Amino acid sequence: MKLSTRSSRVVPSPTLSITAKAKAMAAQGIDVIDFSAGEPSQDTPDFIKDAGKAAIQSGFTKYTPVAGTDELRLAIVEKFQRDQGVTYDKSQILVSCGAKHSLYNLFQALIDPGDEVIIPAPYWVSYPDQVLLADGTPVILHTLESKNYAIDPSALEACITSKTKALILNSPSNPSGSIYSRDTLKRVAAIAKKHKVLVISDEIYEKLVFGDPPFLSIVTVDPEVVDQTVVVNGMSKAFAMTGWRIGYAAGPKDLIAAMSKIQGQSTSNPTSIAQKASIAALQGGSAFFEEMVNDLRPKRDLMVKQLNAIPGVTCTTPPGAFYAYPNVSGVLGRRHAKGTISTAADLATYLLEEAHLACVPGEPFGSPSHLRLSYTPTMDTIQRGMERFRSAIQVLS
Ligand SMILES: Cc1ncc(COP(=O)(O)O)c(C=O)c1O
Repeated sequence: MKLSTRSSRVVPSPTLSITAKAKAMAAQGIDVIDFSAGEPSQDTPDFIKDAGKAAIQSGFTKYTPVAGTDELRLAIVEKFQRDQGVTYDKSQILVSCGAKHSLYNLFQALIDPGDEVIIPAPYWVSYPDQVLLADGTPVILHTLESKNYAIDPSALEACITSKTKALILNSPSNPSGSIYSRDTLKRVAAIAKKHKVLVISDEIYEKLVFGDPPFLSIVTVDPEVVDQTVVVNGMSKAFAMTGWRIGYAAGPKDLIAAMSKIQGQSTSNPTSIAQKASIAALQGGSAFFEEMVNDLRPKRDLMVKQLNAIPGVTCTTPPGAFYAYPNVSGVLGRRHAKGTISTAADLATYLLEEAHLACVPGEPFGSPSHLRLSYTPTMDTIQRGMERFRSAIQVLS
């Protein structure tokens, strides 16, 4: 069958593919240690599940307004007031089937063929593909590990052309865990205002932060940029709700209305039951994600320490999210019985096939000298996984 050129422009999500491969190996009885997942290991808290169950029991199982219920959108308005100090009108909020869907709607509503979207690297794998699906052109802005992946203002300005439509910020970042400082955000906001570029601020890891530096949203740092910013967030990471599929966007009313129109002709409303559960989550206080951060901190420290003990591997301590992002350039070029490890992808394949250790190579994140490892499994699993990693590297020539 002749498929659309649009469909051939994008690749399957590499993170989801590796997780699927690791799960398939585990299903064959192989003892795979999986550091590839992009989700918390915790179960969704009971108070959130209870709200979902109550929604089913009370018959809240029909269509809702396309953009989400008034009750949920008002809970999101309150969340932005409480956490970001920004007041949105309900008409500026769109609830979608996950933050990925929020971003999809956004690019479809914003981009005309040839429009450019600036994406700082390393970036979340789906940004370039979603821009391509909207017939846009991703423009990659490289950042330096030695500068904690901060955006260099002059490099950003050099990327801006007459076709630039938007700039994506993702802080805390997937994959690097880095967080933009107040100073970086101020400078970026000034450039966005000067060139009238829309800022897309993906804040899905907002609550998974270790305190230094603190998380700040660009809309908090510079209230003047609110009118040209879309903040994207969701329930998946902070509330361990990846399967419930609720994300949301807050931004200029006309853009949100266009996104809502697209959603109305594709998925309609997000699941009614998950919307009810999300209200409980947003109104449920901070205890759950504070516990999650307390659980993650020693895991992060253990993984980073063990990675740094492997010859050829270096790893900075990520201040947010739940990924370690070691630089493995010191391992590239080394050989094993079946060949040479020339790329991070070769290393990830070698680790999966020979050490039964699943992690994601840096190439699809736009940084080919790195691997991404989630430190969400148990301390014991991290310890065992790091031993496998070290042994697998030790036998290389
Ligand atoms: C940076 C980033 N943004 C957005 C998402 C999408 O999250 P969801 O669609 O589950 O809300 C993810 C998921 O991995 C992510 O890492």
